[in-house]
Amino acid sequence: MPDLVIRNLHANITDTDTEILKGIDLEMSKGEIHAIMGPNGSGKSTLSHVLMGHPGYEVTEGEVMFEGVNLLDMAADERSRAGLFLSFQYPFAVPGVTVANFIRMAVNAHRKGGPDGADNPVRIPEFRKQLMEAMEMLEIDKSMASRSLNDGFSGGEKKRFEILQMAMLKPRLAILDETDSGLDIDALRIVSGGINALMGPDMGTLIITHYQRILDYVQPDRIHVLVDGRIVRSGGAELAKELETTGYAEMANKEAVS
Ligand SMILES: Nc1ncnc2c1ncn2[C@@H]1O[C@H](COP(=O)(O)OP(=O)(O)OP(=O)(O)O)[C@@H](O)[C@H]1O
Ligand SMILES: [Mg+2]
Repeated sequence: MPDLVIRNLHANITDTDTEILKGIDLEMSKGEIHAIMGPNGSGKSTLSHVLMGHPGYEVTEGEVMFEGVNLLDMAADERSRAGLFLSFQYPFAVPGVTVANFIRMAVNAHRKGGPDGADNPVRIPEFRKQLMEAMEMLEIDKSMASRSLNDGFSGGEKKRFEILQMAMLKPRLAILDETDSGLDIDALRIVSGGINALMGPDMGTLIITHYQRILDYVQPDRIHVLVDGRIVRSGGAELAKELETTGYAEMANKEAVS
């Protein structure tokens, strides 16, 4: 069985009848990179939030299993400890909390809750060493570690820090929502290099993107096209190139008749 199985997933905006996800089916395994592409407003970020357990959305039908465990029964922090990571399309600022402290809290939250639920905080020298290595890989200036998280960061800096968090948390399923948007050409190469360096048989990556360009660096095993809350087409990497010529409207129409 694939590590991630999404079956007939429907989700509404909480406490409304507004359905955003209208029956998503998707399967992927660790060691694989999948991409989701689709028009603005089609439900890509909603899918990422629903997978992470955002309280703003309620699942009305369907199931999500990861490594044989039902994610839908778990709170967001439990999903994070179960190995999920979401890089936000719009990362939030946390004034007053430094990058280093924020990441250390997140790492310690993951390390908590062994069999006895006891704290097991990372030793600070070990943490600093890992953080500095990850910052070096992502070509982030060391002085940035003591700045407030995302407070006054440029758009591209925020995206780079999302990947820094990912590098430190070592997820088994990373969902990257438009991590490439707003990155300059050099930053795109560095961030892509970071994703490739972290990828391996124990990690799956789901990349949400509008652009073929990141897929030249981070090569997807499969691409899914999401239109109006449904995946209308899945295929290999060549699908992104086909999309550039056909566009979404035509692809969705073709599916409707076939
Ligand atoms: N809390 C909410 N309240 C009202 N509408 C919402 C809410 N959350 C999502 N929506 C709507 O659901 C639809 C899907 O939004 P979503 O952010 O998932 O789109 P997207 O595919 O990520 O688009 P983009 O490519 O622009 O990032 C949009 O029409 C959006 O306005
Ligand atoms: Mg989005």
